[in-house]
Amino acid sequence: MKGVVLAGGLGKRLEPLTRITNKHLLPVYNRPMIYYPIQTLVEAGITEILIVTGGNNAGDFLRLLGNGQEFGLKHLDYTYQRGEGGIAEALSLAEHFAERDKLVVILGDNIIEQSIRPSVERFTAQPQGARLLLKEVEDPWRFGVAEVRDGRIVSIEEKPKAPKSSSVVTGIYLYDAQVFDLIRTLQPSGRGELEITDVNTAYLRKGQLAYDVLEGWWTDAGLPETLYRATTLVRERELKRQPAHRPTREALTSA
Ligand code: DAU
Repeated sequence: MKGVVLAGGLGKRLEPLTRITNKHLLPVYNRPMIYYPIQTLVEAGITEILIVTGGNNAGDFLRLLGNGQEFGLKHLDYTYQRGEGGIAEALSLAEHFAERDKLVVILGDNIIEQSIRPSVERFTAQPQGARLLLKEVEDPWRFGVAEVRDGRIVSIEEKPKAPKSSSVVTGIYLYDAQVFDLIRTLQPSGRGELEITDVNTAYLRKGQLAYDVLEGWWTDAGLPETLYRATTLVRERELKRQPAHRPTREALTSA
């Protein structure tokens, strides 16, 4: 299975932070945002990874990440999305790279606490279709909202005013090779984008949409409030893992 990190778009909801750099290069605690989705893929055993970027600072991704040695990778692939045509449009640029393999797709601003390895393993065993990771949240209207009945997703609505549930579709998607044909059938939404929710609905209509519930915390980092939240959550996790990182008086005054 191959991995794709979608880090295109213009990050307008983070202006003026994104006026002179790409949203996914902004700091989340002690690392640039894009490190976290790459780490999520690597940790799940994915070693062939494509970064889809865009905007005015695309060269900075190469300077920052190189061939991914910091993540233990031998190589990283890159491609460029012009404009902001939507998540599904950004994904369509991965068709060459995928070579009909199954894909794990992760949005460049999605940060999670735990491993997605169990879902990747279940998807490896899944004969065809797609698999989503769902999470209960307090503000479902900001996301794609899934209605689940008798253990099956029965509808998904993108940012509904009146959500049918509090279960939302996180930005981690597992797709088989049909995804590119399905994207070709899409029409731009009211906001002028090819919507990933329409891709997921197409799989739903085919009866090929499975899901897991994501363990641990999950956040996006695309708004000032959620960027701050992401930093707080990552910091707590890092300090739990390596309490020695908490700066002591000695460490701060010895330099
Ligand atoms: O975070 C999960 C949510 O992400 C899902 O629940 C929604 O169904 C999905 O539409 C998406 O919603 P957002 O409105 O939060 O997506 P946003 O426009 O902020 O884009 C999220 C990431 O996707 C962004 O950090 C980079 C990538 N992207 C986005 C667009 C619009 C691209 O690579 N290209 C694009 O054109």
